[in-house]
Amino acid sequence: MTAVRAQIRFLLNEREERLTEVRSSETLLDHLRLARRLRGTKEGCAEGDCGACTVLVGRRTGDSLTYEPVNACIRLLASVDLCHVVTVEHVGRHALHPVQTAMIDLHGSQCGFCTPGFVMSLYALWMRAPKATETEIEEALQGNLCRCTGYQPIIAAAKAAGEASPANDPLLSERARVRAALDALDDGARVDLSTGDDRVLIPSSAADLAAILAEVPKPTIVAGSTDVGLWITKFMRDISPAVFINNLADLQIIETGPDAVTIGAGVTYDDFQATLDAEFPHLSAYWRRIGGWQVRAMGTVGGNIANGSPIGDTPPALIALGATIILRSTAGQRTLPLEDFFIAYGKQDRQPGDFVEEIFVPRPAPGGLDAAYKVTKRRDEDISAVAAAFHVELDGTTVAVARLAYGGMAATPKRATAVEAALVGQPWTLATVARAEARFAEDFQPLTDWRASAGYRQTVARNLLRRFYLETTGENAQLTREVAV
Ligand SMILES: Cc1cc2nc3c(=O)[nH]c(=O)nc-3n(C[C@H](O)[C@H](O)[C@H](O)COP(=O)(O)OP(=O)(O)OC[C@H]3O[C@@H](n4cnc5c(N)ncnc54)[C@H](O)[C@@H]3O)c2cc1C
Ligand code: FES
Ligand code: FES
Repeated sequence: MTAVRAQIRFLLNEREERLTEVRSSETLLDHLRLARRLRGTKEGCAEGDCGACTVLVGRRTGDSLTYEPVNACIRLLASVDLCHVVTVEHVGRHALHPVQTAMIDLHGSQCGFCTPGFVMSLYALWMRAPKATETEIEEALQGNLCRCTGYQPIIAAAKAAGEASPANDPLLSERARVRAALDALDDGARVDLSTGDDRVLIPSSAADLAAILAEVPKPTIVAGSTDVGLWITKFMRDISPAVFINNLADLQIIETGPDAVTIGAGVTYDDFQATLDAEFPHLSAYWRRIGGWQVRAMGTVGGNIANGSPIGDTPPALIALGATIILRSTAGQRTLPLEDFFIAYGKQDRQPGDFVEEIFVPRPAPGGLDAAYKVTKRRDEDISAVAAAFHVELDGTTVAVARLAYGGMAATPKRATAVEAALVGQPWTLATVARAEARFAEDFQPLTDWRASAGYRQTVARNLLRRFYLETTGENAQLTREVAV
């Protein structure tokens, strides 16, 4: 019999919270600003785009505690169970933090609305990499928008803060104490909390998640809430009964085997980045262009697959690598190629009670050619107009295997099978690529929407294949992956 707790427990700055009334759709931001009157954390866009609401969430990882920047506007209160939430009020409570001092000294703030969010992102970066490079600083700030100061003084402040010693930083020096306090709150129980007609559930394990999905009618699974949060803030949708899986250790495994890497569905983009850099380096830069740091710290690979979006960035990348997914329910596990999971727009091969448990990603064959591209209107924090990922294996100079996967070109993420057929068995030459390009119209009839027209998408799809050919053969040494402006 699973032990049950009807309470959400966490630490907020120095205070211990034990809440018995938490609605599934209550955001962390509303709790901070309305219930606790911590109004340093601002609300701008309420959709994870501007970073004004950035706070730190300390999450237990192994024996330690990892602080990450999150968007409190779309992070749901129930999801911080057994975590440490840190707001800007806590950062400067005894003395200004070096990040804050540097922001003042180097004029990193004008109207100040965005400033607490910047301070929190820079603090998270400072804890992780005090002497961050300019590229790392820019990456850490992808999810923070400033309308009046301009980014140069803020970047200068980030660099200057790196000169301060982390030795006396409260969050770093108190990490062991905070970790012990969080461990003391953890009773290993399932959380089952009702507030009026609203219900919040937090399973205690993957097996318990399967049991809950079998028991509870019409549940909403909530992982990082970077999609679900917007259903609430933008569409006022009721998500009860909501099953929060973001802290489920069973879904956060990363196993590196000789032939493949297996990741749990609950692994966030940020958590997977180091493994990805080592095992699938062709995806490194592509991955860093998913959302901003806050979204990558919350959003999960499983959520990106389960939502079935035709413009999600992970499915094309994983399909090109030949990934399979494992679905689980009380009936057991089911394995299927990722590309077969997507049946039609909004329809996935998922039975009631199923959840995505793991993703199995084979290592590319040695000598294989791999690349991934994301085409957007602006470089950072933007959704793909077209995403493409390619895997080609050559037998001598002849194409033996071709897997070309696209997002944004159809109602689902989809392989260009007619184009692939025109490549396989042919010499890997520009003439072959040019002949194969003619087959794109058989594979895709894309839509026109506010991101791109159908004609633009077709042209981009063809050009990306050509670019892949030129980059992997070195036929055009002038090409660069990114153009500095
Ligand atoms: C500002 C912003 C920028 C973004 N940028 C990008 C981008 O660049 N590229 C991109 O692809 N996406 C982007 N997204 C979308 C989003 O971040 C991703 O789709 C993310 O991976 C969703 O994961 P999540 O854990 O947050 O899912 P959630 O929002 O928690 O859930 C999404 C859906 O998946 C279901 N679900 C979650 N986990 C499971 C599971 N294990 N089993 C079954 N069902 C499950 C949920 O019920 C829900 O239907 C962005 C979002 C925001 C807010
Ligand atoms: S208010 Fe804009 S990201 Fe949260
Ligand atoms: S200082 Fe005004 S928005 Fe950044």
